[in-house]
Amino acid sequence: MTIQKATNITWHKGEVTKKDREKYLGQKGVVIWFTGLSGSGKSTLAHSVEKSLFRKGKLTFVLDGDNIRHGLNKNLGFSPKDREENIRRIGEVAKLFADSGIITMTAFISPYRQDRDKVRSLLKEGEFLEVFVKVALDIAEQRDPKGLYKKARAGEIQDFTGISAPYEEPVNPEIVIDTGHTSIEQSTEIIIRYLKKKKVI
Ligand code: ADX
Repeated sequence: MTIQKATNITWHKGEVTKKDREKYLGQKGVVIWFTGLSGSGKSTLAHSVEKSLFRKGKLTFVLDGDNIRHGLNKNLGFSPKDREENIRRIGEVAKLFADSGIITMTAFISPYRQDRDKVRSLLKEGEFLEVFVKVALDIAEQRDPKGLYKKARAGEIQDFTGISAPYEEPVNPEIVIDTGHTSIEQSTEIIIRYLKKKKVI
């Protein structure tokens, strides 16, 4: 649990509400949370969905694992504690983005169920859409776009998800995409259809 350190702080509620911003933008501010192994296709899919939404005139933003670890979370590694803090911060940032009315997508392994569920609990019902980017470990390992599985197998990287660190599959995700058997175009379409069905767009 993260302890509230600061005292004597008060919440300032703005005059412009989330609803006002959503009306202005013609969309709902939600978090689409992609989770899955390294090499599962989270980032590729998030960026593909973003492109499709942007073409439809929707305002989006993608928070991407490796990028965030270059800045906001550069002081965090891959221990369970650091991953927890990584996801906690991303969750809070994603919520801020969603509050601004933006369709916010996050692409982090986020291997621990409890950490993902904590982010879910920050948002209202229907505002957190968990997308399990499912892929068999051997397929992710064959893809190995960054050569990290090879290094992990050789013992050059410790605590590597899927090899020497756990990945806890979502129990009840809103969407499951099997990128081993579904093309990027089809996967994008599945998500866009879901967003229409739920009146996010
Ligand atoms: S998370 O587990 O805390 O959610 P995050 O998505 O931010 O991870 O970062 C994962 C990315 O960091 C991977 O795609 C990979 O490029 C890189 N990486 C480096 N070391 C590790 C490791 N030990 N385990 C997993 N990913 C790693």
